[in-house]
Amino acid sequence: MSPTTPGIEDASAKLADGPAPAPASAPTSGPAEHGRRVAGMFGRIAGWYDFLNHALSLGMDLWWRYCLVRCVRRGPTGRVLDLAAGTLDVTREILRQHPWAQVYAMDFSLPMLVKGKPKLRGSRAGRALPALADGRCLPLADASVDAVTIAFGIRNILPRSDAYAEILRVLAPGGRLCILEFGSGRRAVWKGLYNFYLHRVLPALGKVFSGDAKAYTYLADTIAAFPEPGELAAELARAGFTRVSWRPMLSGIVAIHVATKPGR
Ligand SMILES: C[S@@+](CC[C@H](N)C(=O)[O-])C[C@H]1O[C@@H](n2cnc3c(N)ncnc32)[C@H](O)[C@@H]1O
Repeated sequence: MSPTTPGIEDASAKLADGPAPAPASAPTSGPAEHGRRVAGMFGRIAGWYDFLNHALSLGMDLWWRYCLVRCVRRGPTGRVLDLAAGTLDVTREILRQHPWAQVYAMDFSLPMLVKGKPKLRGSRAGRALPALADGRCLPLADASVDAVTIAFGIRNILPRSDAYAEILRVLAPGGRLCILEFGSGRRAVWKGLYNFYLHRVLPALGKVFSGDAKAYTYLADTIAAFPEPGELAAELARAGFTRVSWRPMLSGIVAIHVATKPGR
């Protein structure tokens, strides 16, 4: 896929469907390799991503993203970064709920952004800028956005501390990081029914539809390895955010965290 795809900025320079080239200071071993694998995987399932998202969550993902975007607040810049924007569902919701917002929609998988591009048609299109970029190395100026949203994305980024540092850098003081993520990979939910669904049913369904069982095994594995909501809140506080709060949804299967950049 050409980096000159109309309407999608090549923020990471000469990139097909891989992550942004690592800057000199970026890690070159584990995390870089992980990034390449993740970008490749989302590139492969981009065509099926939306359908499977809505089907496997019985449409609840739309409500979760709506609630996430409700946490965004206007600040001095009038801009919002939707990080790991994928097929742009959160970007579209920001444009809907916040008529003041210019939205940077950044992701390091071009096929995902291309798949989402038709959602930006119409009067809102001019307020969104999809761009290829790695969340660990954002092509944005310091203090240039009022809020950062990231839905089902932070789990994929390693190390998360690099993403937190970048998010803190680009947020205006007082700006919010709003995270939507799976909340409970290790605790048994609904007497283990959810865990059975996640580890057995979901990879099987994912394989039937997308032909990529690995992607949905990866989903279950990364959810299991991800911190519980309280641990994630502590991690955000350690990274330098203040006023960290979270709200569990659907018995804690997902959670929304809101964390603020200090200084206002
Ligand atoms: C599960 S999808 C979520 C997409 C979208 N936010 C949503 O709500 O459907 C995760 C996305 O994170 C992106 N991603 C993973 N690691 C990234 C990184 N380091 N920088 C930018 N995007 C990343 C992937 O390419 C993928 O599109």
